Formats: sequence, C-alpha cells, structure tokens
Amino acid sequence: MDINADFVTRSITLCLEHGATSRKSAMHTSVVGTSDGDLRVMVLREFDAGTHTLRFHTDARSPKVKSIEANPAMQILAYDPEAKIQIRMRGRGRVERDTPSADAAWDASTNFAKRCYLAESGPSSETAEPTSGLPQWVEGKNPDDAQVAAARQNFAIVLVTVTEFDWLYLANSGHRRAKVTIGDEGTPSVSWLVP
Ligand SMILES: Cc1cc2nc3c(=O)[nH]c(=O)nc-3n(C[C@H](O)[C@H](O)[C@H](O)COP(=O)(O)O)c2cc1C
Repeated sequence: MDINADFVTRSITLCLEHGATSRKSAMHTSVVGTSDGDLRVMVLREFDAGTHTLRFHTDARSPKVKSIEANPAMQILAYDPEAKIQIRMRGRGRVERDTPSADAAWDASTNFAKRCYLAESGPSSETAEPTSGLPQWVEGKNPDDAQVAAARQNFAIVLVTVTEFDWLYLANSGHRRAKVTIGDEGTPSVSWLVP
C-alpha cells in the first residue's frame, strides 16, 4: 500500500465520517478531553471535513461545558480496531445553545434521545440515592413532542475544530504515523513520525 500525505488526510476523513454515521464504528464513541484534565466518552455526531470540525451533543449544565467555556483547548482520542487506525486530535471547542446548528441537531434527535435532557439537575450533581435524574413520570417512557419541549433549554452542541491530527496505522509490514497540522487557511500539512 502506498501511504502518502493524500492517503492520510483521506483516511482521517473516512474514519471520522464513518465514526459519525455508523453506530458500529468504535470511533462513534470517542474519548473527549477538556482543559481541566477530565476525560469522558461522547458520541461523535458529525465530522465536517471542510472545516475539520467534530460535533458532539451534551447537557448545557454539565461540568465539561463550563470547562470548555473557560478554556477552549480540547483533545479527542479515537481508535478503529477494524481499520487499525488511531487518531489523536487537538483543537478548539465551542459550545452552542441557541444557534441554527443547535436547533438543527435538536430537531434531528428522537424524543427518546431528547428525554435525557429532562433531567431535573445537571450531570455530575450529587444525589442522595442512585437515580437517572429524570422526573418519575418519564421513567421508562418515550415522551411525546410536548413532553420533551422543556428539555430544549438544557441541550447544547459542542463543536471542536481540530488544529492537529496524529494518525497512527498499525500494520504487520511496519506501522506508519503522521502528524497533520491545519494551517490558518485551513490547509493540512502532513509530516511523518516514528510510530
Ligand atoms: C457510550 C457512552 C456515550 C456517551 N455519550 C455522551 C454524549 O454524547 N454526550 C455527553 O454529554 N455525555 C455522554 N456520555 C456520558 C459522559 O461520558 C459523561 O459521563 C457525562 O457527560 C458527564 O460528563 P462531565 O461531568 O465531564 O460533563 C456517554 C457515555 C458513554 C459511556
């Protein structure tokens, strides 16, 4: 296989687009790091190859939102065992609550997914007992449009614009590793690293 700069940038796009659209891809559940040192798994919803931007959904009350708003430096780690490709990313995150993109993401979600945002307190709030945080009336139910409307105020999207990709491909014939830096114009430049 001829692994060149073009191969690497196409591989990153294919892996992340597949990660966003296929629930079976391991990259669908990636590890997302914030500047406070915390890591968590999040579902990758979209990769925009034109702007090198990843989209995630979250509860606007969660600690990660506060962290991103205090310092936008973020890291994302994804590994696809079938492709044998690890992608480590560094970038700048931003939280959007009331933008057209946030509205579109909300509108495209099922009521069952929207239900999570009905939790009475935000993620990481302490509780006296083990709980889902959801109001009793919605436990185990698929709410209707009117019932999930109030959850919209707790929903936000996190957009991470990647500035550096670290691509690692595992192969018996010899591993390969590349660093892809995105310049100010949005143009990728590829350099090679010892795996
Ligand atoms: C498979 C899986 C998928 C998850 N997807 C999301 C997600 O898309 N968005 C999200 O905010 N949290 C998601 N979580 C929960 C987070 O990992 C985390 O526990 C929660 O968001 C609280 O994070 P915080 O306290 O760092 O803000 C997911 C957890 C797992 C195990």
